[in-house]
Amino acid sequence: MKKVLSGMRPTGKLHIGHLSVIENWVKLQEKYETNFFIADYHALTTQFDDTAMLQKNIRNMMIDWLAIGLSPEKSTLFIQSKIPEHAELYLLFSMITPLSWLERCPTYKGQVEQFREQSGKDITTHGFLGYPLLQGADILLYLANYVPVGEDQLPHIEITREIARRFNFIFRTKLFPEPEGLLAKIPLLLGTDGRKMSKSYNNYINIMSTEDELNKKVKSMITDPERIRKDDHGHPDICIVYQYQKIYNEDISGVISENCKAGKIGCMECKKLLFEKLNTHLLPIRERRLEIENNPDYIDDVIADGNKRAGQKAQETMTKIKEAMNLI
Ligand code: TRP
Ligand code: SF4
Repeated sequence: MKKVLSGMRPTGKLHIGHLSVIENWVKLQEKYETNFFIADYHALTTQFDDTAMLQKNIRNMMIDWLAIGLSPEKSTLFIQSKIPEHAELYLLFSMITPLSWLERCPTYKGQVEQFREQSGKDITTHGFLGYPLLQGADILLYLANYVPVGEDQLPHIEITREIARRFNFIFRTKLFPEPEGLLAKIPLLLGTDGRKMSKSYNNYINIMSTEDELNKKVKSMITDPERIRKDDHGHPDICIVYQYQKIYNEDISGVISENCKAGKIGCMECKKLLFEKLNTHLLPIRERRLEIENNPDYIDDVIADGNKRAGQKAQETMTKIKEAMNLI
């Protein structure tokens, strides 16, 4: 069976952008040998000075994953820093990776600038430059064939492929596959105000928000600004609510669009349709989360078992890596 691996940084509460990503992982569990991990080392690359909530965020993320439907039986679910081989392979890869590959990576320059502008923070650290290398180690340690990620991550997959090729060439082995990014048709959801969904803008919908919070968020979403009265002709294409309708009310989004253009549906009514659909989607997840949260022993067991299984896989590959490099 082909192997799938992906990771997520534990950055706090999940929003509905993450939800589509995890729901896609849930589907992959049926077709592949799946490995999903919480990338706490990656969180440190930018949040090294803000670790107070780290353990809480990790645990919450695991609970969210389980509530959404990732299964500890079907997938290996684990925490990156609990598997020392990630750090070890990162070191070994650093020996064979030209600095220019990392300096050239578009996410590096982009993020450095973004951090400088948004918070004045300087993230030109060794660790952040090495981000794609650590990601490559995550992926190749489990000999993954497919890596479900967003488009923004493709440069990292490309560097991973280059490292795999280079390693195989230098050490005359066929150990590493050349992993491929698996782009799901996950729509990039914008925030409720039309900007990028982001914690700092407070424009996102939490997966675990209460019914009341959800209703408020949907009501605050911006619509076609030219629509003032219900019978004004609307432009769903530029409306944030409509972007969400296309995903969560897919079956009736065509009708909504026609009625909006014809001035036959008001924005209040349209938002109510969205709220109801979102709420029915999130309700069972909220309930499952509560159940899991009330069973801390179960969570501990899931994490311990996942870490153990991941550790075995990682050690197996590491032995082969060291054999190839004449380190043992
Ligand atoms: N960089 C990824 C992100 O920000 C998270 C990540 C870390 C990852 N290691 C990975 C994703 C390995 C896929 C495979 O989304
Ligand atoms: Fe947007 Fe719906 Fe209002 Fe049309 S009716 S502008 S799609 S919220």
